[in-house]
Amino acid sequence: MKRKHFLTIGAGLSIGSLFGRSALNTDGKFLSVGTIDPITDYNDVSKKWPVSLESEVKDGEDSPYWDFVRSLFPLNASLTFLNNGTMGITPYPVLEAVNKSFHNIAENAAYPTHDGQIEEMLASIIGCKASEIAITKNVSEGVNHACWGIALEKGDEVIISKHEHVGGCLPWIYRSKTEGIVLKIVELGSTAQETLNNVKAMVSKKTKVLALPHIPCTIGQILPVKEICDWARGRGILTAIDGAHPLGMIQFNVKEIGCDYYSGCFHKWMLGPIGTGFFYVSESMLSKTLITHVAAYSTDKFDMSSQPPSMGELVAKTSRYCYGTFSGPLFDGVMSAMKFYLKIGPEAIEKRVKGLSASIQHKLMAINDAAPATLNPNISLHHKMQNTLGPIIEILTPTEDISRAGQVGFRIHRKIAKSSARFVDFARKKQVILRYVGENNIDCVRVSTHYYNNQKDINTLFVVLEEFLTTED
Ligand SMILES: Cc1ncc(COP(=O)(O)O)c(C=O)c1O
Repeated sequence: MKRKHFLTIGAGLSIGSLFGRSALNTDGKFLSVGTIDPITDYNDVSKKWPVSLESEVKDGEDSPYWDFVRSLFPLNASLTFLNNGTMGITPYPVLEAVNKSFHNIAENAAYPTHDGQIEEMLASIIGCKASEIAITKNVSEGVNHACWGIALEKGDEVIISKHEHVGGCLPWIYRSKTEGIVLKIVELGSTAQETLNNVKAMVSKKTKVLALPHIPCTIGQILPVKEICDWARGRGILTAIDGAHPLGMIQFNVKEIGCDYYSGCFHKWMLGPIGTGFFYVSESMLSKTLITHVAAYSTDKFDMSSQPPSMGELVAKTSRYCYGTFSGPLFDGVMSAMKFYLKIGPEAIEKRVKGLSASIQHKLMAINDAAPATLNPNISLHHKMQNTLGPIIEILTPTEDISRAGQVGFRIHRKIAKSSARFVDFARKKQVILRYVGENNIDCVRVSTHYYNNQKDINTLFVVLEEFLTTED
């Protein structure tokens, strides 16, 4: 069954009938633009949307274009979702693609075939060859492929950061426990230069690998991975980058970064279906990298009738890491997500993401800077607090442009809230979804905003934060 999506647009936007939903927003004057197929029309770069990106709108400001984009997401209007860093929400075209593909299996018994289109499209987005990419189910799988794929001996050193996600560090911790490799933990700096200096200072003659996040899950700063990888390459040190966050958020090119391994996913900022990822191995490293899991797609032949049983060579592409049955429908959703991303435009997305998070940083600063006379009574209370406590909000994410993107980490003064987790819990009760970062004693609130978020979401966050600051005891 082919679903049609009736759309009208004007001062308000109306999207009706998809999955039997009624119109999302019916205020304003409507201009009917007819019947639109969510798959072919919303993510097809050659087809025009009824609203275009306005060049005069400042980064981070809302506009009819971004309102229209938001209307393509079925996100429940009662939620203020500010946790894209944990999981992206999918727009209608992605849902449609997944749904259609599952239907195809159920109705036509169509076994999913892997024709390499996903790798092709991803390769064109991140600047490598399709043959350097394997699809995975998540970031952790890629991190594991890299970790167990690098030949290391007892006593060899691997540098990881203090800001790792469990998926980014556990394979390395386990390997240090079981094989005696030595893990050294680098502190991330408050600027890109400081981080680079810290990494350089930690390297010794025994350092074999730098396993670092491109953007950590904690406070979301962008690491200077290109400079780090350039420097490491000159010393024969391998680089395995945890790229859980950048894809779909900021533009990057793995060849320019120059890393040996890069593990990422589609289910965060690319807004693909949950449970979809990728693993990049540079062509020059493929034959030098071990592989622990092999099955269908790892090789072209095997023979159980020979003595001993035999197999062909591993395929000469990174897809050797993609073994066995994969979820075709989820990866059809990935294709749709990448098309949707390209349709909106990587540059526009990056600007929007940076603009929204900049406005969060400014509003946080304003809490600390507020002058009692000019702002509301709550703010003057903050000011009083500040006189005795110092800044109420500690912004942890760097403000320098090259080091920030879609996530802002901040901590509330411990005299106000014993732990910033209290605010995250408080906000959740008001349907504002944030992430508390408690790992490694970081204790901060992480706000992640993607292009579908808007100033209304940000205002809601600050209303709730004000309420918390004035009522928490
Ligand atoms: C930096 C980082 N690395 C790794 C992971 C693990 O990702 P996945 O759950 O896709 O394996 C995450 C998840 O949030 C992350 O933020």
